[in-house]
Amino acid sequence: MKGIVLAGGHGTRLYPVTLAVSKQLLPVNDKPMIYYPLSVLMLAGVREILVISTPADLPNLQRLLRDGSHLGLDISYARQDEPHGLAEAFIIGAGHIGDDPVAMVLGDNVFHGNAFYDILQRSVADVDGCVLFGYPVSDPHRYGIAETDAEGRLISLEEKPAEPRSNRAIVGLYLYDNNVVDIAKNISPSARGELEITDVNRVYLERGKARLVDLGRGFAWMDAGTPESMLQASQYVQTLEQRQGVRIACVEEIALRMGYIDAAACHRLGSQLAPSGYGTYVCAVAKEFGHRTG
Ligand code: DAU
Repeated sequence: MKGIVLAGGHGTRLYPVTLAVSKQLLPVNDKPMIYYPLSVLMLAGVREILVISTPADLPNLQRLLRDGSHLGLDISYARQDEPHGLAEAFIIGAGHIGDDPVAMVLGDNVFHGNAFYDILQRSVADVDGCVLFGYPVSDPHRYGIAETDAEGRLISLEEKPAEPRSNRAIVGLYLYDNNVVDIAKNISPSARGELEITDVNRVYLERGKARLVDLGRGFAWMDAGTPESMLQASQYVQTLEQRQGVRIACVEEIALRMGYIDAAACHRLGSQLAPSGYGTYVCAVAKEFGHRTG
């Protein structure tokens, strides 16, 4: 399975903060926002990843993530000149996707939950059509919304409905079979001029090929696209990290635990980040995994 992190857009809801810096490079507590969605793909076992962003922001994203080989990944980059919609990612990324299924994650989405690794592994192993993930929210008019029947089967999908039929938002993580490229090429722009991902998902739904996985209330999903939600995400991560002494979305640790790099490589990465607390943590994780110093 190939991966896409969609990290474009102008970040207008964060102006003036994002006038000179990409939203996805802003910190969520102790690390750049894009580490969170990147972690999701890594945990799903997806290692060939295309990062899509604006021409202005790509150089900085590239400086941060390089070619990914230090994390045992293969990261490439593509530009989206204007935010023409989430579904345009599959057109821009068609060459990268090739004949494979694809997982796309939004560059400002933060996920955290105990069973997430298992949910991801199970979901990527069985993509026949599309797999969407639902999450209960208090402000459903802000999201793509799923309606299900009494048996939990998906029956409707709406983008930012004025009168939502449920409070179950579709989160910014999508798994598709290879048909997504053709479907994205054949949908029309919405009233706001965008190729909407919800329209792609509706095609799968009409074909009886859309599956909804509920993330449930014991899970954390945040979209860090506004000053308030960015601060909330930082506070959430800070609280858990301080209480537990472990770091969320530490990409070096995930690379090590997933077997993408060895303990010595992990220790080298941590040393390069010293003396930050983050770097010290990466070194400690490497030692725990058997790396010997001195
Ligand atoms: O966060 C989940 C929601 O994401 C879903 O529930 C909605 O169905 C989906 O449409 C999307 O809604 P948003 O209002 O959050 O979409 P937004 O336009 O803010 O774009 C999401 C991110 O993707 C944002 O960080 C900017 C980036 N983006 C957006 C567009 C339209 C791009 O990189 N390129 C684009 O063309």
